[in-house]
Amino acid sequence: MKEKYLFDYLAPTTVNPAVPEPAAVRQQTVQNTSLAELAQTVVQCRRCPLRAGASQVVFGTGNTQAQLLLVGEGPGAEEDAQGLPFVGAAGKLLTKILASVDISREEVYITNVVKCRPPGNRAPSAKEIETCLPHLLAQIELLNPQIILCLGAVATKALIDPQASVSLIRGKWLERKGRKIMATFHPAALLRDQSKKRPVWYDIQKVRDVYRSLSQGGD
Ligand code: URA
Repeated sequence: MKEKYLFDYLAPTTVNPAVPEPAAVRQQTVQNTSLAELAQTVVQCRRCPLRAGASQVVFGTGNTQAQLLLVGEGPGAEEDAQGLPFVGAAGKLLTKILASVDISREEVYITNVVKCRPPGNRAPSAKEIETCLPHLLAQIELLNPQIILCLGAVATKALIDPQASVSLIRGKWLERKGRKIMATFHPAALLRDQSKKRPVWYDIQKVRDVYRSLSQGGD
């Protein structure tokens, strides 16, 4: 059963990253029965080196009842400082993209593939992604959204197809485990390349249409 509302869940940051992850926690990810429990597991995770270089774990934020889940790549400097996903420049653009189709950040849930900031904002390695992925998969099961929007290549490869190219599959509805899933460009890519704005505008309208049809009782 879902928790009622858990807006802006802030993972506790008091765990010393130098202390090894307790053995009992190690295999726990898939056994958590609530999002709060899972967040505790993730906060204690030491399965890859990213945690040692990060200030805190960025678990995710938003409406835990949301039917729309947005998944990015991993926290950047601002996210690492605030403990919240998508609060830096790319996040501000994401908020605007959502607002352009009358969706507020607060009504959806936002998270990343990796929960700790890769140093210097480098892309997470294949090993780091593989290690962190069980946390995201468990989070998806607990949130149980009907729609997932993958922002950029890391989320697209992790959740849709390791061989996928965002340019080729973006804007297409696919299905994974009974959920509708779509890839689009990462907001950071739009900041670098204005020509990606229009395709993202098309994609987010498709997302809005299905998302709104769900809230009107459609399927
Ligand atoms: N980019 C991401 O992929 N995630 C964030 O949280 C911020 C920037």
